[in-house]
Amino acid sequence: MNRLAGKSALITGGGGSIGLATARAFVDEGACVFLVDLDGAVLARAVDELGSERAGYAVADTTDSDAVAAAVAATVDRFGSLDVAFANAGIFGTIAPLTEYPAAVFEQVLRVNVLGSFLVAKHALRVMGSGGSLIINSSVVGLTSDARIGAYATSKHALVGLMRTAAKEMAPAGVRVNTIHPGPTDNAFQSAIEVEAVGASPQESAAVFEQMIPLARHATPEEIANVVVFLASDESSFITGQLFHCDGGMIM
Ligand SMILES: NC(=O)c1ccc[n+]([C@@H]2O[C@H](COP(=O)([O-])OP(=O)(O)OC[C@H]3O[C@@H](n4cnc5c(N)ncnc54)[C@H](O)[C@@H]3O)[C@@H](O)[C@H]2O)c1
Repeated sequence: MNRLAGKSALITGGGGSIGLATARAFVDEGACVFLVDLDGAVLARAVDELGSERAGYAVADTTDSDAVAAAVAATVDRFGSLDVAFANAGIFGTIAPLTEYPAAVFEQVLRVNVLGSFLVAKHALRVMGSGGSLIINSSVVGLTSDARIGAYATSKHALVGLMRTAAKEMAPAGVRVNTIHPGPTDNAFQSAIEVEAVGASPQESAAVFEQMIPLARHATPEEIANVVVFLASDESSFITGQLFHCDGGMIM
């Protein structure tokens, strides 16, 4: 219950499925959380649920450097420090072969997933001290890929390079940096991808994806959050520069 006692955390995409599940788990473990996302009403509801004593939010686009810097400063102002950052905001783009992939969509996916995570790293790492932990949400397709997901897979692979660079730069300061690589997770983000890829109902499309997962099911957002809690906590104090597969065995 107190694995994150005394820590304060910034979570981007904090209004979304994995981000909010992580915020709940962090608060349950004694942390204070500051959520960043695009929709103020969603964030206000999340903070209501989490309790305003230990949760705050900022509406910010993670591709806006000044907005990310302000959210980091607001976290420190509100809670006194920034110990954990979860660079989690992300978008998928579309499904198309590279020869047909719209360049504007490719650019936007890289902006949000790569530039956005870089800006979280840039501003959060400036204020994190020894014991700090940056966790970057990549994907199983940050480790492998499939046809027709060029923008998303490219962006999620790039996050491994960002993580490795940050881990090497920050190790002397005692700050750890790792990526997580979730497989298909049971939420609206993934369901939309599955329906677009398979072209059937959500249930039928999910069943097609489950055939690719050795554990034969989707993750819950809470199962992904559990991995983030571990990486945020001092239980992982000697782990940095690593890639955490949470994919039901898709890559082994
Ligand atoms: N759902 C899955 O199966 C799965 C698998 C692997 C990785 N992921 C990754 O997990 C992360 C969270 O995804 P999720 O499944 O919770 O989906 P989600 O859509 O519920 O959450 C993503 C959140 O990011 C926010 N966001 C998007 N662009 C933003 C921006 N520019 N600035 C600020 N916030 C922004 C969205 O508003 C949303 O709330 C993403 O990076 C996604 O790529 C998801």
